[in-house]
Amino acid sequence: MAIIKVEDIAHVRFAAPDLALMRGFLEDFGLTCFEEGGRLYGKSSDGRPFVHVTEPGEAKFLAVGLRAGSVADLDTLALREGVPVEPLNEPGGGMVVRLTDPDGYMVEVVAGQTRAAPAPVHAPKFNSAADKPRQREPIRLEPAPAHVRRIGHAVLKVSDFRASEKWWKDRFGLLTSDEIEAAPDVALGAFMRCDRGDMPSDHHTIFLAQLPGALGLLHAAFEVESLDDLMLGHEYLKARSREAAWGVGRHIMGSQIFDYWKDPFGNELEHWTDGDLFTAADPPAKQSMQALLAVQWGAPHPMFAGKMAPPPGLVAFVTAMQLRLKRLFSRIPKEA
Ligand SMILES: [Fe+2]
Repeated sequence: MAIIKVEDIAHVRFAAPDLALMRGFLEDFGLTCFEEGGRLYGKSSDGRPFVHVTEPGEAKFLAVGLRAGSVADLDTLALREGVPVEPLNEPGGGMVVRLTDPDGYMVEVVAGQTRAAPAPVHAPKFNSAADKPRQREPIRLEPAPAHVRRIGHAVLKVSDFRASEKWWKDRFGLLTSDEIEAAPDVALGAFMRCDRGDMPSDHHTIFLAQLPGALGLLHAAFEVESLDDLMLGHEYLKARSREAAWGVGRHIMGSQIFDYWKDPFGNELEHWTDGDLFTAADPPAKQSMQALLAVQWGAPHPMFAGKMAPPPGLVAFVTAMQLRLKRLFSRIPKEA
């Protein structure tokens, strides 16, 4: 049984050498920014004190924050881990337990932060062929950045998926929504959601992926108000000559309509809307690597967008071989 069950992701934390440069991007991306105590904070419209933090320093990813249900849960976690519960000296206050995962990622589990009243969401009604709730109401949209409602998930590259999966599930009660296999029984990662019992939870809050290349944050994702909001945000970022990474399209796992952009320091941030929700009663599924990289519609993954794109099956084959070789050599004793 897990030590606690977290409710959601709380924030992502970065360092960057130029806070003004980061702020310019985040405002174009749709966050409300302010500086306090020498740090840059980005807020969404859900009333949470912050969802994105930048500290001055060499550009890098620093931490992911998770939200626990209560300060009592932090006490339980801290006791089991042998670490202190500390005051979170940041906007919104609250308390924090800081843990380090098997790959050295800092995980900041927070609780007791103040929350302001959420701002209203402006999402036009949508007329489908089956249902037409928008009547006598024309749609008139103005060019503007997207409106980020909340932070939704983070994707971390890991060096040993099974070890990381156990660490994250044991502590935070995460449930697998989809496990990704490069080949049958060669798992490379999993989309994991929070266990909120009967309360529906995003398809994934944390995705741990054992993929080739350097470790790090693959991306952090933020929910926007609607499809119109996402598309207006896309147009706005494009008009501001920001660096597009992948999108617009609809994922298979999680079903989100997605749009990925890079901040000025190379960190990837995602806008998404219309994602899947599941309760604790929904069983895990297995999916292929092809499904991970494919889209239901829209822009192909950048890996497959060039003229010399390798077939997805070949990518899966090579990845499976790398994982199998790694497992084989990790089983051979060092002295052999
Ligand atoms: Fe994502």
